[in-house]
Amino acid sequence: MKKFRVGIVGMGFIGIAHIDALRRLGNVEIAAVCDAADLSAKQNWIQDAAVYKDYHEMFAKEKLDAVHICTPNRLHFPVAMEALNREIAVVCEKPFTWSLEEAEQLSEIAEKKNIPNFINYCNRFYPVVREMRSRIKKGELGDLILAEGGYRQDCLFKKTDFTWRMLSENSGKTRVVADLGSHWFDLVEHLSNKKITAVLAQFKTQYPVRMQRQGGCETFQKSVDNVELKPISVDTEDIANVLFCMEDGAVGNAMFSQMCAGRKNELWMNLDGTQASFGWNLEKPEECTIGRRGEMTSLLRKDAEIMEEENLCFAGYPAGHTEGFADAISHGFRQFYGYFGMEDEGRVYADFRAGCRSMLLAEKIYESACKEQWISL
Ligand SMILES: NC(=O)c1ccc[n+]([C@@H]2O[C@H](COP(=O)([O-])OP(=O)(O)OC[C@H]3O[C@@H](n4cnc5c(N)ncnc54)[C@H](O)[C@@H]3O)[C@@H](O)[C@H]2O)c1
Repeated sequence: MKKFRVGIVGMGFIGIAHIDALRRLGNVEIAAVCDAADLSAKQNWIQDAAVYKDYHEMFAKEKLDAVHICTPNRLHFPVAMEALNREIAVVCEKPFTWSLEEAEQLSEIAEKKNIPNFINYCNRFYPVVREMRSRIKKGELGDLILAEGGYRQDCLFKKTDFTWRMLSENSGKTRVVADLGSHWFDLVEHLSNKKITAVLAQFKTQYPVRMQRQGGCETFQKSVDNVELKPISVDTEDIANVLFCMEDGAVGNAMFSQMCAGRKNELWMNLDGTQASFGWNLEKPEECTIGRRGEMTSLLRKDAEIMEEENLCFAGYPAGHTEGFADAISHGFRQFYGYFGMEDEGRVYADFRAGCRSMLLAEKIYESACKEQWISL
């Protein structure tokens, strides 16, 4: 069995999740890790991988098959570009890049050079999400009428919560749209197999000035009292409300915020069709509700006995043995490293093209919020 030599750039919240997911696969070796910050507290994760502070040096010294890009968004482009120039496969975190132009450039090069590429829209890989996709494809939903939902967290609830995401120079033009909305819109288009055709957005920034902790802070790091804080201007949205139209006449609405106290990581979605409605909530990832008029609402749970054959590879454990975030990421990577250099048939992961689609949506949502009008895609 070929063992892929992989480098990880960015060892914060999601970089560690990538390592955890990759080590389960068996055909991937974490050959190198790279982070601009001190990694001495992360030795348990690094193990015997080579450690770099500079990704140029990592690329120059290591012979890698793939790089995983887990840095703030603004660095996705230069790291991916260097990898593509060296014919190295790219697994990139979402949102794909800082701007749509960057995304399109990378996507064109990867296609021209036929270099494997992956964007980590990990919600696609929950077993129940796969099963929803199959049932909707078979016609159980009927024609889609309405898609509603959103993505709520409370990790940026306090005025003293500050991460790199707050600044457009790191995040891109949008923040909650890029961070949370990108997941939601990827999922709604993936599940329904319908494209969004127009958007009308409203943004709100609750705290245009926040208080930044000296030395910075990782994603989801616990807030602390009695540390030195300095004021910093924020130029991205805390909250986004989006109305949208989809192909074939469906309409939708979604909201995104990291300031909803008590909501930890709640991506929720309801798809209402002419035959039934399908509902899913990331905080209860092993359950999907299927509602039908005149019948009791049923609960679809991960269970090999009722799942489609094509989805069984996404159920790592038997029914009742709950799988979550780490498992979904691992299932995605398993498919990528299984498919690496092989045919595309049956592939469900998002690639650079899907990443471009997400970036286009974010740009149009931003434009709509600025102009306060409907924008077509
Ligand atoms: N798929 C998901 O569900 C998911 C979840 C969280 C984050 N993300 C994405 O992952 C990316 C990283 O987010 P995070 O939450 O892990 O952020 P984080 O702040 O926790 O970690 C980012 C890491 O990148 C490092 N870094 C910064 N500049 C660097 C450089 N020049 N070279 C090497 N390392 C550098 C930082 O030191 C830090 O360790 C973002 O694009 C984010 O949108 C995706």
